[in-house]
Amino acid sequence: MTSREQALALDARDPLAALREHFTLPPGVIYLDGNSLGALPKATPARIARAVQQEWGQGLIASWNNAGWIHLPRRLGDRLAPWIGAQPGEVLVADSTSINLYKVLHAALQLQPPGRRVVVSERSNFPTDLYIAQSVASAQGGELVLADTPEDIPALLDGRCAVLMLTHVNYRSGRMHDMAALTRLAHEAGALAVWDLAHSAGAVPVDLHGAEADFAIGCGYKYLNGGPGAPAFVWMHPRHAGRASQPLTGWLGHAAPFAFIADYQPAAGIQQFQCGTPAVLAMTALDASLDVFDAAQALGGMAALRAKSLALTEAFIAELDARVPQARVASPREPALRGSQVSFSLPAEIDGYAVMQALIARGVIGDFRAGEPALLRFGFTPLYTRHVDVVDAITLLVDVLATEAWRRPEFMQRGAVT
Ligand SMILES: Cc1ncc(COP(=O)(O)O)c(C=O)c1O
Repeated sequence: MTSREQALALDARDPLAALREHFTLPPGVIYLDGNSLGALPKATPARIARAVQQEWGQGLIASWNNAGWIHLPRRLGDRLAPWIGAQPGEVLVADSTSINLYKVLHAALQLQPPGRRVVVSERSNFPTDLYIAQSVASAQGGELVLADTPEDIPALLDGRCAVLMLTHVNYRSGRMHDMAALTRLAHEAGALAVWDLAHSAGAVPVDLHGAEADFAIGCGYKYLNGGPGAPAFVWMHPRHAGRASQPLTGWLGHAAPFAFIADYQPAAGIQQFQCGTPAVLAMTALDASLDVFDAAQALGGMAALRAKSLALTEAFIAELDARVPQARVASPREPALRGSQVSFSLPAEIDGYAVMQALIARGVIGDFRAGEPALLRFGFTPLYTRHVDVVDAITLLVDVLATEAWRRPEFMQRGAVT
């Protein structure tokens, strides 16, 4: 049997195969970029249309109560909670990942004594995390200290460290940290642990309570498929409720927003992390996409998603090894260390950006991340990616490299977003 026939056989007995039917995917496209922007759930357009035409158009302002708009941030948080190991009432959907990171970093630093003002992270963390941490730490008289490798992190957890801030699954390499072990090390050193779940939520098992984490934030538009710029989420361990305070003290984080009193009094628990009016239409799209996760729950939940994700990434690495000798895999080969993506580099004489553009022109959508080394990055959303997509994507990659199609000038043109 060829590897393509094997992949088709795996697809035929995939317990999650039916989930692909929940998505609109253009014909002829192999979409391997759901780690950047998730695909469109079929139900989303009608849900948004209903929110616009009926709830807004007909219900007008009464929809804040009658359509439950005002409860969306907490209701969506409750829907998300089981996928990240949180309890109902602990998660809020609001704002962007960057803004939520600002809130939780500030809150975490405020919980620490004045002598602890260092935020520890790793150099390869996503830039927004580093930039926000630089800003919050320096505004509080502290600094951001960066580990060059994951192995260097423990030595930085000293008596000055207030917060260990990490992204659970690295956006470039797809390497996954041991959240429980690193949180424990942080706590032993007197630090708090803040986790960015942008590349984890909906893709890999996350157990915030099991890990005893302190704060977490994450993204709604990647594996959660909430649409471009979807609202993000924020979680705080309940042990910090009533003690932690976030800096964006808007009216909807107030204990009594409709009392319209002049002095700020924080709401209890995670509600305090809401700043202003929720983006109802964007929330509606995320609500629709979470229905797909209900369907996934019925088919085996995160255990089934993780098993399929690992099978897909494992197969992609095996195909690369066998058929693309120029590629150097940058993601962990050890399954336990791998998120739901695989990245690889190509020799310097091959323009990786142009290779990706040539692949996209053939219908295989991944993305390119500049840096040392530059990486071609492929995300494997287990909700809609098939095993045959893995084999076909590699076949087209082999063709792009063998024909040197990537040398065509149109593939060298860089757009504003890469
Ligand atoms: C780890 C991580 N954090 C945050 C973000 C983005 O944050 P925002 O949605 O605020 O732009 C990304 C985007 O790719 C990311 O990979």
